[in-house]
Formats: sequence, structure tokens, C-alpha cells
Amino acid sequence: MVLIVERAQETDIQRLLDIMYAAFSKDPWDRIMYPHIPAPEARGASIERWRDEISIDPTMHFMKVVDTDIGEIIALARWNVYEVERPESEWKSTKPRNWDIGANVEAANEFYNAVCESRQNFMGGKPHCRLNMLVCDPQHQRRGAGRMLLHWGLNRADNLVLEAYLEASSEGHHLYQSAGFEDVGTLDIDMTKYGGHGIHQHFVMTRAAQKPHSPKSASGSIP
Ligand SMILES: CC(C)(COP(=O)(O)OP(=O)(O)OC[C@H]1O[C@@H](n2cnc3c(N)ncnc32)[C@H](O)[C@@H]1OP(=O)(O)O)[C@@H](O)C(=O)NCCC(=O)NCCS
Repeated sequence: MVLIVERAQETDIQRLLDIMYAAFSKDPWDRIMYPHIPAPEARGASIERWRDEISIDPTMHFMKVVDTDIGEIIALARWNVYEVERPESEWKSTKPRNWDIGANVEAANEFYNAVCESRQNFMGGKPHCRLNMLVCDPQHQRRGAGRMLLHWGLNRADNLVLEAYLEASSEGHHLYQSAGFEDVGTLDIDMTKYGGHGIHQHFVMTRAAQKPHSPKSASGSIP
């Protein structure tokens, strides 16, 4: 089994969306935002947004894990690397978002707005690395792909001596804790408003900038 991390291309987008929808298919909140997993022809908004992010946004890094034995993409991470301070006009902008056909627009907007507000409150324009999304095909989970993609971004953060930020699902929470992230808040969504049960919780997590290695401590490892 050889898993490799590579930069994703525009031509990968349909497969990456398949992975995203499959990975969240059992998540009760995702089922509210997307009562039906959209068919390829209904994914225009996501395709357009991801194509722009891949080709235009220099801060955005779409990284994939490929299983070279089967020649298939099995996992995706979207990392934002903000190396320099950003102006408020950039990080405070909350452009309304188009959603794929079939989305529960009200629920999706509530979640999107909560996430944007949290990012603004915790990180603002500070330089940092943000894990925007991490998903692994359910048929390939627990093979190490998620951790490889997490460490791709954390290596960038460590080389640049930057803080890292993410919002974690309960499935990802332990993985992030094991890599040095700590809870700094939660995002709670009342699912009963949309016919669901209970509160859906995301954990807001940050990881402090790591001190650069001195030659003397080179044998010490950062998780
Ligand atoms: C979270 C996720 C990306 C992990 O991907 P993965 O490739 O399976 O992760 P790895 O194989 O590298 O496993 C790393 C650790 O993640 C944890 N983990 C992986 N899958 C998990 C699951 N389904 N439930 C709970 N913990 C899980 C484990 O702690 C594992 O460590 P272990 O070696 O002690 O078992 C994957 O489970 C997924 O896509 N989940 C659905 C989408 C999601 O919630 N993404 C995170 C959004 S913040």
C-alpha cells in the first residue's frame, strides 16, 4: 500500500466532491444541509467555487491523497496558508454563497455564517494556516490518509512559524488533538429548527506556532 500526497487539479473536482459528500453522509447536520447528496449535474456551485479556489486563490491549497495501488484519490484537504497580515476588507468580507441544487439554503447559510464569524473572531487578519476541510472516502478511512494531509499543512505552519486554526467535527476532534490542537470554543447549531434532533457541535481549535528547531534539539519531534 503506497499512499502519496499530491496537489489536486481542476480535473479532480468531481471525485473530490464525491469524497466530501460520502465522508459526511452519516453526519446528521450534513443531512439537514443536504437532504439528498447532489448528483454530479447538481453540483455547479461547488464546482465553480472550487475551480476558482484552485486556479485563482494563491492562499488556497487543495491537497489529495492517492492510493497508488489502485490509482485512486482517497482523501482531500483544503488548506489556506496566510503568510502575511490581510486587510480587513479581505477577511471580513462575507460574500453570500451559492449552494448546490438541493441544499437547504437556510441551514447551509446559518452554518456558513457561524463559521465565518468564528474565523473572524479568532484569527481576523493574522497570518496563520487554516484547515478548511479534511475528508477521507469512508471506504479508505483509518489508513492514515487524514493524518498525512493534516501534517502537510502543519509542516507548512511550522516552517513559517505560524499558528493553525480549524473547526472540527467530532470525528476529526481526536486526530486534531493528537497533533497539538486545543479547543478554544464551540459552534452549536440547534437542529430542531430544521426538523432534526438536538444540538450539532463543532469544536473551534487552534494550535500555537511552534518554536523553530534549534540544531541542538533537532532530535525532538513535533507531533
Ligand atoms: C476525520 C477523517 C478525515 C479522518 O481521516 P482518516 O484518513 O480516516 O484518518 P487517519 O486514518 O489518518 O486516522 C487518524 C486518526 O483519526 C481518528 N479517526 C479516523 N477516523 C475516525 C472516525 N471515523 N471516528 C473517530 N475517529 C477517527 C483516529 O483517532 C485515528 O487515529 P488512530 O490511529 O488512533 O485510529 C475521516 O474520518 C473523515 O473523513 N470523517 C468524515 C468527515 C469529517 O468529519 N472530517 C473532519 C472535518 S473537521
